[in-house]
Amino acid sequence: MNRQVLLESRPEGAVSEANFRVVDAPLPRPGPGEVLVRNRWLSIDPYMRGRMSDARSYVPPAKLGEVMVGQTVGEVIESNDARIAPGATVLTSLGWQLYGTARASDVEPVDASLAPASWYLGVLGMPGMTAWFGLFEIARARPGETVVVSAASGAVGSVVGQLGKLKGMRVVGIAGGREKCDYVVRELGFDACVDYRGGKLSEDLKAACPKGIDVDFENVGGEILDTILRQMNLFGRVIVCGLISEYNATQPYAYKSMRAILVNRLRMQGMIVFDWKDRYEEALSDLGSRVAAGKLRYKESIVEGLENAPRGLIDLLAGKNFGKQLVKV
Ligand SMILES: NC(=O)c1ccc[n+]([C@@H]2O[C@H](COP(=O)([O-])OP(=O)(O)OC[C@H]3O[C@@H](n4cnc5c(N)ncnc54)[C@H](OP(=O)(O)O)[C@@H]3O)[C@@H](O)[C@H]2O)c1
Repeated sequence: MNRQVLLESRPEGAVSEANFRVVDAPLPRPGPGEVLVRNRWLSIDPYMRGRMSDARSYVPPAKLGEVMVGQTVGEVIESNDARIAPGATVLTSLGWQLYGTARASDVEPVDASLAPASWYLGVLGMPGMTAWFGLFEIARARPGETVVVSAASGAVGSVVGQLGKLKGMRVVGIAGGREKCDYVVRELGFDACVDYRGGKLSEDLKAACPKGIDVDFENVGGEILDTILRQMNLFGRVIVCGLISEYNATQPYAYKSMRAILVNRLRMQGMIVFDWKDRYEEALSDLGSRVAAGKLRYKESIVEGLENAPRGLIDLLAGKNFGKQLVKV
């Protein structure tokens, strides 16, 4: 039997377990040119909150009553395509379920000898590439500059900061709580990390960035972005990668620092990693060689069991994850 988590209803405000329904279903059979995959790891990502809503976005919403969308890494159990053998480890978009079928051309074999298979959902997957393209291509990061990254201990932020250090930048993280901040500095090698829950974000950020901020890699938005904008240097770049503090909100945050964009001639650019899909190979090969050389550290936050995937998403959106959020299915 298969087991699936369906999107049952669209949340108003915070996501709840009632927005999902767990069902058992017959095992799917692969058709001609298809593979049957047993998912092993399900990625839980902040964008999923957006897919649960029917507000206009960069892709259509997840459909009610259907399997919740998401990337997985799994094992090919049966193959009707000569290019993929049973036993292969593949990256898929099969979503929140134990088994699924896909056209062989829609799954991506991954090299599980280079790194653990789950890493292809994180540092060697979509979050890692988001960090790579955002920092190198959009921000055009330069040695000696100061970059600030929010959600610094997370899947994207941890890679941004480490790549920034390898590039010769001053790297300052922003994270929630002492434990995450200590990890970011001691384990990931950031120059400093500000605990935004400490109650004096602006002063702490100023102390951590004595020469001001040249690049803001923005993952959180709201008050954090508003505070950073006021400390940006002339011709600074703000990469709007994510606004997680607003995803569960019913009202958008009212930004107050627009004047800083004008007077400091800032460039503020949104990014969606899919825009770079023609160049994924380039980023993955660079990230892969840095991982192989032991230059990128990486942490995972693992929930056990497919039926606990809703809890994984709820916790991620509340900042309870520590590292890339995954479900072991
Ligand atoms: N544009 C793209 O193509 C793209 C691709 C991937 C990800 N993203 C974005 O990148 C950001 C990070 O994603 P990720 O996958 O790496 O997740 P993550 O950082 O591993 O996990 C999310 C983190 O966000 C922080 N957070 C949650 N609610 C917050 C709040 N109200 N205020 C401040 N911080 C909050 C928490 O860290 P703290 O405890 O430190 O606050 C939490 O651990 C998200 O905004 C996501 O949407 C964008």
